Amino acid sequence: MKHLLKMFDLTPEEITEILNLADQLKYEQKHGIDKGYLKGKTLGMIFQKASTRTRVSFEAGMFQLGGAALFLSSNDLQIGRGEPVQDTARVLSRYLDGIMIRTFAQKEVEDLASYGSIPVINGLTDYSHPCQVLADLMTIREHKGKLEGLKVCYVGDGNNMANSLIVGCLKAGMAFSCATPKGYTPAEDVLQFAKEYPCFTLTQSPAEAAKDADVLITDVWASMGQEEEASIRRKAFAGYQINSELLTYAKPDAMVLHCLPAHREEEITANVFEAHADEIFDEAENRLHAQKAVLVKLLGA
Ligand code: CP
Ligand code: NVA
Repeated sequence: MKHLLKMFDLTPEEITEILNLADQLKYEQKHGIDKGYLKGKTLGMIFQKASTRTRVSFEAGMFQLGGAALFLSSNDLQIGRGEPVQDTARVLSRYLDGIMIRTFAQKEVEDLASYGSIPVINGLTDYSHPCQVLADLMTIREHKGKLEGLKVCYVGDGNNMANSLIVGCLKAGMAFSCATPKGYTPAEDVLQFAKEYPCFTLTQSPAEAAKDADVLITDVWASMGQEEEASIRRKAFAGYQINSELLTYAKPDAMVLHCLPAHREEEITANVFEAHADEIFDEAENRLHAQKAVLVKLLGA
């Protein structure tokens, strides 16, 4: 593993290795064990979109590992004034040990990796959000004791989260059912991949998808960059909500996850959100531990 650009990049064995290391790093942090895994290393973090969790967890994570992180807003970089990503990649490779990037087009992340000579981590694109899905898998395993054989149900937009969850969960041996409205299905290459798995279903019915699910997951109806479509999307997604009625179709002990930020009474009701807040905020916390595992694997000796 040289980069983390999308969930397709990881084998099932690599997913398990990252989750095991994440558990170990979480234990070490909670017990004050400091092994200085990334002493002297520097991560550049390019942000072309807003972030709370990704920015803070990567920055704190690098610090905890003995390294440093640089917050590089695209408003301040020459990239924001048109310097090509190909040149940015070659320059940053001379200064840094790794780059995390949050941007719009997946191609930009792929270009950064192919022109640069240091590991690149995708901190969210319109297509993919692999760091979030590693944290989600870690959280499910923590709460349920296993991944294999569990059923995950995703309700909502066929966006970056849906794309990454489908690939990650299927690779982890889980069943997956996805409920999206017409016209908002996941990416074509993800659906082609999922088609090979008999335990994958795509439907327009949230109730059908939620049947006997162990985990219910949703995400915002309008992602970053889609703000102008918000009112059209509110109509298209009406009914694609995790609420107490939908939970009656799932297993009685089903977990609910949300990558955050959440829009209460849109994709999730306030009641369900609060009833599952412990799981949702464990999920947010686990961004830190899962990403530290990715950083140690990619930037470590
Ligand atoms: N879930 C997530 O990636 O959050 P941020 O947008 O705050 O980084
Ligand atoms: N789908 C959302 C996820 C935010 C973490 C977005 O791209 O805005």
